[in-house]
Amino acid sequence: MATILAKAADSAAVADGKATRIEHVSKSFATPAGPQLVLDDISLDVAPGEFVTLLGASGCGKSTLLNLVAGLDAPSAGSIATDGRPALMFQEHALFPWLTAGKNIELALKLRGVPKNERRDRAEELLELVRLQGAYGKRVHELSGGMRQRVALARALAQDARLLLMDEPFAALDAITRDVLHGELTRIWEETHLSVLFVTHNVREAVRLAQRVVLLSSRPGRIAREWTVDIPQPRRIEDPEVAELSVEITEQLRGEIRRHGKD
Ligand SMILES: Nc1ncnc2c1ncn2[C@@H]1O[C@H](COP(=O)(O)OP(=O)(O)O)[C@@H](O)[C@H]1O
Ligand SMILES: [Mg+2]
Repeated sequence: MATILAKAADSAAVADGKATRIEHVSKSFATPAGPQLVLDDISLDVAPGEFVTLLGASGCGKSTLLNLVAGLDAPSAGSIATDGRPALMFQEHALFPWLTAGKNIELALKLRGVPKNERRDRAEELLELVRLQGAYGKRVHELSGGMRQRVALARALAQDARLLLMDEPFAALDAITRDVLHGELTRIWEETHLSVLFVTHNVREAVRLAQRVVLLSSRPGRIAREWTVDIPQPRRIEDPEVAELSVEITEQLRGEIRRHGKD
């Protein structure tokens, strides 16, 4: 435990007061045709409590970058520091089907070292935070897609991380469910003061959620441009200001896609 704490403290120092600090990161993968450069010289900071969306066409390297920040893979060049170990949430809920919703959350609490006698109460609190009171004993197959993502979010929050990394977590949901979950995520972000780095290829979703939208180009992924989003929360995806900025960003994204052929 002491080493884990010391490690977290070290990485907080390296992150220099940021939730994450990405400096001159490049990533290549070996392919039969030789090394493929996927990310080229990415530098990006996320401030404590900030909500940043990383937007780009499919295949541009968004997941690759998020995996690097999560520490699941190492950059080919450059450095990444985070304030403690980040929590992760993906498009697939990745819940254990043989455990109930509550037990899935308790497992994350257990891994974090929360004493056994506190886990049940904490799991119930987290279910309440994601508005799933009463779902403690439900199994994964009894839950709708939206409810599963709520449990996955509660499980990510159970890690008590200061940085939440989200990789297209609502991409498989229908538009109405996604809209509801955008509202819930905004509320939870405001309540918890978490830093969020959220990956999406959906321009409106990026603008709906973020304080800052960072656009990645394709082949290789580079930071093409970023926008500060000053529209007050709670926003709605159909707000005229959201639509207006989305049009501007979509134009730029189309330009990026044209420059790089397909997708
Ligand atoms: N482990 C890997 N080995 C080889 N190529 C990879 C690997 N992971 C991703 N890639 C390639 O990197 C590019 C970016 O992928 P990814 O980060 O998944 O894009 P995105 O999430 O933006 O859709 C793709 O061309 C993909 O094929
Ligand atoms: Mg991806």
